[in-house]
Amino acid sequence: VHVIQHVDHLRALLAEHRVRGGTVGFVPTMGALHAGHLSLVDAARARSDLVVMSVFVNPLQFGPNEDFAAYPRDLAADRAQAASRGVDVVFAPDTEALYPKTGAAPVRVIPELDPPRWEAAVRPGHFAGVLTVVAKLFNIVRPDVAVFGQKDIQQATLIRAMTAALDFPIDLVIAPIVREADGLAMSSRNVYLSAEERIHARALSRALRVAEERWRAGERSADALESAGKAVLDAETGVRTDYFAVVEPERLEPVGRAAPGSIIMVTARVGRTRLLDNIILGA
Ligand code: PAF
Repeated sequence: VHVIQHVDHLRALLAEHRVRGGTVGFVPTMGALHAGHLSLVDAARARSDLVVMSVFVNPLQFGPNEDFAAYPRDLAADRAQAASRGVDVVFAPDTEALYPKTGAAPVRVIPELDPPRWEAAVRPGHFAGVLTVVAKLFNIVRPDVAVFGQKDIQQATLIRAMTAALDFPIDLVIAPIVREADGLAMSSRNVYLSAEERIHARALSRALRVAEERWRAGERSADALESAGKAVLDAETGVRTDYFAVVEPERLEPVGRAAPGSIIMVTARVGRTRLLDNIILGA
């Protein structure tokens, strides 16, 4: 695996690949790789003949009281994992390479969210930070295919909207959530959980499963599905639910009645860690 830090080097390498008719698959990450990220690599690999992974902890998407400084960083470990899964190029720029001089972005991509809901309401500026860095990375890598995880469904939905709105000629793939054996959705932030919190954290996926079972049994009322899931979360000590909501898949607006393709999203705090999970309701 090549590890490249400079935008110009990456561009030169990819230009050579494209001249030979090669396609490029792209997996943007903030490192701290786990099996979820590696499944995104597989999805990119299946659709392209060169896979680029970016590893960049993007300061723009962290709020002032968030975990930017503490976010786990281990490029050597990430490189080894990426190599073991067949990533061809790891692009690991420093902050200066993406945000020269000021360390900030003089222009941002800001989503129109009226009203801001869910993570957008709790983390002002977060999605502008995500969209800005993803737009920059799309322009640097110019991939044919880019893969994002369903775990961050709000992010994936906004990136899909940005890709369409700004005419990026990129095939976007949203790959399914990878879970631990006990159901917990894989996340780089799971390392923050103590052993006890780790047990409480199972309640998120359990709540989703309970709501999904009600859906399978014929329940269509969003209120009823939400109450079933919230009851599971409320019964678990150490879990503070931010939201448990049934939404439609395009703009993630709340719905009154669930339908195939509706998404149930949950966010809860376990100790000091905010955890996100979701499921897409089947037919
Ligand atoms: O999902 C992430 O890891 C980040 O939000 C992303 C998409 C790499 C942008 O920094």
